[in-house]
Amino acid sequence: MPIKIAIIGAGGMAAYHAKGFREAGAEIVALADVNQAAAEKAAAKHGIPRVFSDVAEMLRAVPELDAVSIIVPNKFHAPLALQALKAGKHVFCEKPPALSAKEMAALKAAGEKAKRTLMFNFNNRARPESYAMMEYIAQGAVGTINTCQAKWIRRAGIPGFGGWFTTKALSGGGPLIDLLHMIDLGLHFMGYPEPAHVLARTYKDNIDNKAFKGPWGIPDVAKGVTDVEAAAHGFVTFKTGQSMSFAVSWAELNHREEVSVTFQGTKAGGLVRRLFGTDGIDATALDACQLYSLENGRHVNRDIIVPADETMGRVRSATNFIRVLEGTEKPLNTPDQALSLMKIIDGAYKSAATGKPVAL
Ligand SMILES: NC(=O)c1ccc[n+]([C@@H]2O[C@H](COP(=O)([O-])OP(=O)(O)OC[C@H]3O[C@@H](n4cnc5c(N)ncnc54)[C@H](O)[C@@H]3O)[C@@H](O)[C@H]2O)c1
Repeated sequence: MPIKIAIIGAGGMAAYHAKGFREAGAEIVALADVNQAAAEKAAAKHGIPRVFSDVAEMLRAVPELDAVSIIVPNKFHAPLALQALKAGKHVFCEKPPALSAKEMAALKAAGEKAKRTLMFNFNNRARPESYAMMEYIAQGAVGTINTCQAKWIRRAGIPGFGGWFTTKALSGGGPLIDLLHMIDLGLHFMGYPEPAHVLARTYKDNIDNKAFKGPWGIPDVAKGVTDVEAAAHGFVTFKTGQSMSFAVSWAELNHREEVSVTFQGTKAGGLVRRLFGTDGIDATALDACQLYSLENGRHVNRDIIVPADETMGRVRSATNFIRVLEGTEKPLNTPDQALSLMKIIDGAYKSAATGKPVAL
């Protein structure tokens, strides 16, 4: 029997979720969105038979559902995930996992109580580069990663003005919580060590400057709220002695959009990077996956060649979720890791607000 799944949220990511679920053999039986017209349009586009404008009604009307995927504005991630877990469904939720560590802790507890799988779409872990790098790390080729630098720097990438992305109450914050992918990927490579302290600064420059708008995102809302940061920079220490610096922005004067994790291990250093094209989405993006080592007394740089993945792991990540439910793959992420990540994000916002380091 194929896994039966429903998608909640008719936004752009639904296409990747649908493709990944189907590639793994799942059946997408329903789509729910509070906007009935958007739900109908997306369901028709993706060939999904049943449409709902109310999630509770869908959970009642489709009892055979095994799982849901949640692709809605950040504020609704935790409430919808809780609702689905309570109804006995497995959950695959878009990033960020929740608005705060407190919400994430409640989600983790609910998943354990319901004995259901709870995973998040940290799709960058599912990129071919990340899988390749994790093989080297697992084989011991890298040694202990002492430190790493996680970056997602956008020159002009504000995802719309005044909509939910720029309203802290709806999004949880700006690029720090939105572009948390590289912090997560760095932690993944490092073995998700337990964080000790974080020190961070956020910057609001140009957050309302239309010249810094991204080529995608959601429509502007004329009298909407814009109360989030445009950039965040910080440093995290871990109880293991490891450390990480991070830089994330929607609007910073950088050469081009850089999405990367660089690390320094005791046996080898490494890099996984995408340099986007001039408009953020064009075909001139450059991907790199490299290892730096000392072999036979000589310094060696190696390029690891992997298939190009324009989707940045978004399809593969959805495939992983279904295979986890079927028991044929290990989960790419766990609720414990999501909680650790949310503690770092919370701590970074607190540090930026107080101007002091925060113990985690
Ligand atoms: N992993 C990635 O690469 C990636 C990329 C883009 C967006 N995202 C995430 O996807 C999520 C959605 O982003 P988006 O850009 O599609 O947003 P969006 O605003 O375009 O679409 C969200 C949809 O959710 C619906 N919705 C809102 N509240 C709802 C509720 N309570 N119940 C059901 N439906 C509801 C809206 O009507 C809308 O159709 C966000 O959490 C975002 O962080 C992830």
